[in-house]
Amino acid sequence: MNLPALVPPLKCQGIKTKLVGEIRRLAQLVDFDRWVEPFCGSCVVPLNVQPKEALLADSNVHIIRLFEEIRNGTVTVGTVKAFLTEEGEKLRTTGEDYYYEVRKRFNSQPTSLDFLFLNRSCFNGVMRFNRHGKFNVPYGHKPQRFAQSYVTKISNQIRRFAEITSACDWVFEVADFRATLGRASSGDLVYVDPPYAGRHVDYFNSWSDADEEELTRLLKGLPCRFILSTWHSNEFRTNEIIARTWKDDSRYHMLTRKHFYHVGSSEELRHPMIEALITNFPAPVPVTVEHNQLAFLEEASQEYASVSPFVSPGCEKTADL
Ligand SMILES: C[S@@+](CC[C@H](N)C(=O)[O-])C[C@H]1O[C@@H](n2cnc3c(N)ncnc32)[C@H](O)[C@@H]1O
Repeated sequence: MNLPALVPPLKCQGIKTKLVGEIRRLAQLVDFDRWVEPFCGSCVVPLNVQPKEALLADSNVHIIRLFEEIRNGTVTVGTVKAFLTEEGEKLRTTGEDYYYEVRKRFNSQPTSLDFLFLNRSCFNGVMRFNRHGKFNVPYGHKPQRFAQSYVTKISNQIRRFAEITSACDWVFEVADFRATLGRASSGDLVYVDPPYAGRHVDYFNSWSDADEEELTRLLKGLPCRFILSTWHSNEFRTNEIIARTWKDDSRYHMLTRKHFYHVGSSEELRHPMIEALITNFPAPVPVTVEHNQLAFLEEASQEYASVSPFVSPGCEKTADL
């Protein structure tokens, strides 16, 4: 059965909310001691997989500061509720100018609460920084953004996140993926969701061909199992790296799934993306509700006829959130 995904307190482009059911299913196929995630972003995946032990890293210091402060009790349901209610009232009465005042304050002295405020009131829930590392997303034009019901929703997300981190042994670190992967050992399961080359590029997400090659090299040399999230294709382009890197090697397996993003660039808002999950362990197609399975197979046979030996169609559907 597909349970609705738990939603984290942060939004970011490329968030894997709709893939967590499938990632969790793959994780359950592996006997592992520790979950290692070098590009943890919103942390929606560990929130839903709920590994007992985890190393969660990202190069974005603001993301890690927020999660660490929730974990250690500096940011609580009470502080978030009071802050968003008070600041939300200022946004309601002052409008756009107040958003830019908070953005300026955050860029001179970053705090987790301002980060949360900006993340939830900026345009389209995008997380983007200029080349000096300053948050530069414009206002989302929703002065009523922090109505009581929305503050309650965010507070509940904070509560859930705090409960799970206090029940588990999770470590949050600001780190480059090379350092995180260098610490993986044989009992780990590594989940990697890097920035997609050429898309969402900013200060914390710049991603070059050299990064991609280095990531591939490190993944291939890991002493443990991994799951790699990447994009397979959209109606305009196909990810050639998949064919170049992972195809034609029987150690690697792939599942694909159509995904509509709701934050991010306009290309993604208008068009679905086919996501791929690549593993270095067998990833059987799940037994799903028949009509879901048929729908996927129809789609897959049309869209992937040319690469069918490598594609394992049939990832289960997750709830729309
Ligand atoms: C596609 S997002 C991850 C999304 C996440 N899986 C989710 O569902 O929310 C990629 C993340 O990689 C981080 N990142 C970019 N370059 C990095 C690097 N060199 N090392 C570590 N993290 C990096 C970004 O800050 C961003 O949070």
